[in-house]
Amino acid sequence: MKRALGVCYYPEHWPEDRWAIDAAQMVETGLTWVRIGEFAWSRLEPSEGDFQLDWLARAIDVLGAAGLQVILGTPTATPPHWVLEKHPDMLAVDAEGRARGFGSRRHYCFSHEGFYQESRRITRILAERFGKNPYVVAWQTDNEYGCHETTVSYSNAARTAFQDWCAQRYQSTDALNRAWGNIFWSMEYDRFDQIGLPNLTVTEPNPAHVLAFRRFSSDQVVRFNRGQTEILRQHTNAPLIHNYMGRVTDFDHYDVGADLDIASWDSYPIGFLSDRLEGTPEHKAHYLRQGDPDMQAFHHDLYRTVGKNRWWVMEQQPGPVNWAPYNPAPLPGMARLWAWEAFAHGAEAVLYFRWRQAPFAQEQMHAGLLRPDAESAPALTEVRQVATELATMPEVGTTKARVALIFDYVSCWAWEAQPQGADFDMFRLAFETYRAARRLGLSLDIIAPHAYLRGYDLVLAPGLLETPETLQNFKGMALIGPRTGSKTAELCIPLPMGPNIKDLNCTVSRVESIPPTTRIALENGGTFLHWFEELDGTADITLRTKDGKPAIMHTDGLHYIAGWPEADTYVEILEGLATTAGIPTQRLPDGLRVRDSETHRFWFNYNPSEITYQGKTLKAADLLIEDLA
Ligand code: GAL
Repeated sequence: MKRALGVCYYPEHWPEDRWAIDAAQMVETGLTWVRIGEFAWSRLEPSEGDFQLDWLARAIDVLGAAGLQVILGTPTATPPHWVLEKHPDMLAVDAEGRARGFGSRRHYCFSHEGFYQESRRITRILAERFGKNPYVVAWQTDNEYGCHETTVSYSNAARTAFQDWCAQRYQSTDALNRAWGNIFWSMEYDRFDQIGLPNLTVTEPNPAHVLAFRRFSSDQVVRFNRGQTEILRQHTNAPLIHNYMGRVTDFDHYDVGADLDIASWDSYPIGFLSDRLEGTPEHKAHYLRQGDPDMQAFHHDLYRTVGKNRWWVMEQQPGPVNWAPYNPAPLPGMARLWAWEAFAHGAEAVLYFRWRQAPFAQEQMHAGLLRPDAESAPALTEVRQVATELATMPEVGTTKARVALIFDYVSCWAWEAQPQGADFDMFRLAFETYRAARRLGLSLDIIAPHAYLRGYDLVLAPGLLETPETLQNFKGMALIGPRTGSKTAELCIPLPMGPNIKDLNCTVSRVESIPPTTRIALENGGTFLHWFEELDGTADITLRTKDGKPAIMHTDGLHYIAGWPEADTYVEILEGLATTAGIPTQRLPDGLRVRDSETHRFWFNYNPSEITYQGKTLKAADLLIEDLA
């Protein structure tokens, strides 16, 4: 598969006589992919049944004739106002019971049957017209499911659908009552239609109820997406893609990905650093114009799994965005570095968002490759450089990593339903685990809990609701916990208590969560924060707290960790395990990262200044590619 560059384009935003000029310039820049259409519903069907597809056909022709391959989006993230007038109750409802409004996007509830049918209808119309169009080489379903907190909706439609879902999952209210423990506080039901949604309760709702509702909400996204893929597949053989977001964990991406051919995601490194990552003010200041050195890589590795090894970056930040609290400009070089990092992790394509900055509406302050006046914006030169480099650089195949991190969406919902400590966030725990490994120069695979572990020398399994079956017989080195295997699938305490790993002989007897001002000191000088578990059992003690309690216990390669390690402690622990597993590590300087492909080693300098390491000098925001042969 040839790696390629592309861009997101909105022909409906510009006069038609501009399209050919834009297309020619895209090609001249070295772009080969162009994504269009995903928000154009009001121009494709201005009123019900009034289909205006000819302009889109002409746009596709112009782009295709210029040599570009088109990805066509279904426009269901932006239903026009007439759709809302037809289905006034299609809006998602927030936890306070308020309907969300018209006037931006994603204003639909996944459970609304009428809107579901509208989504299938417009998808069918587009698929019938463009499914065989030779220039339409891939399709995108909707846009960023779950973005703007749109997965979970407390609407009447959701309530009815949830009752049906419960009836299917539990078969009887007795079984449901038992599974959730509804004897507690007399919460028992005797009919499924009595079951409400877990919002607006007087004090906290039953966490099992919340988790069931979150599983249901995720299934609704899967169903909605499948509603489109079924139709698209009847009309096209082109690959089907969705563009996921960064740090959106509200639906199970593995499940959605199962119905698609390629995963893609929208990478906004500087926006994410500012708006959705924990970090000290110093960290955020240091990486202000580069983004966090692990955030992009984490999602590349995650979506590689979601896409079953085929994945893209559908939207790449090109300059300042408009939506974060602060929106600094990237350092010169970053638009190139981010693209190369994606290719190093196996991306087939990287598309920049967007071609030309719109002078109107919500994103008028969001950079494109062109300025609003169609002059070049700074990133354009860097994109051209990547295009030239790609042409001369041999293919880089991805290779299976020796280290795997198990990441699970259900666990994200479980710990949201029952955090037990304000700082226990599943994504954060997984991300900090990933970061610690990367600081040791390791390349990782991120894998689903049901994935085979064969071939991995070190498996990291932090914070999983249930212990994956595959770990029960795993013979390599593993670091399990904290909190892994501490609950049943229904978010109750298992008996016997967790982590329930057959050969480990270790039980969590008590847990405590602690505020950020407190640390648990370890005998080796390290610390735990946020979370600590007391361990019982006959497993060997690998590491103790300063006051003598087990901090890590192990039997053979299986290790259980009783707390959330502070960053440097985590590095030290993983270094020890990797060394025992025979995996070479190195302590990388801050902001330097390395990623191995089958044939090449890629070095990325996320620092705002030059760095020298092992005789290699990398300028600020620069990369180095070494041939491993
Ligand atoms: C993405 C979205 C795009 C655009 C972009 C701005 O989340 O898919 O449509 O809004 O952000 O950064």
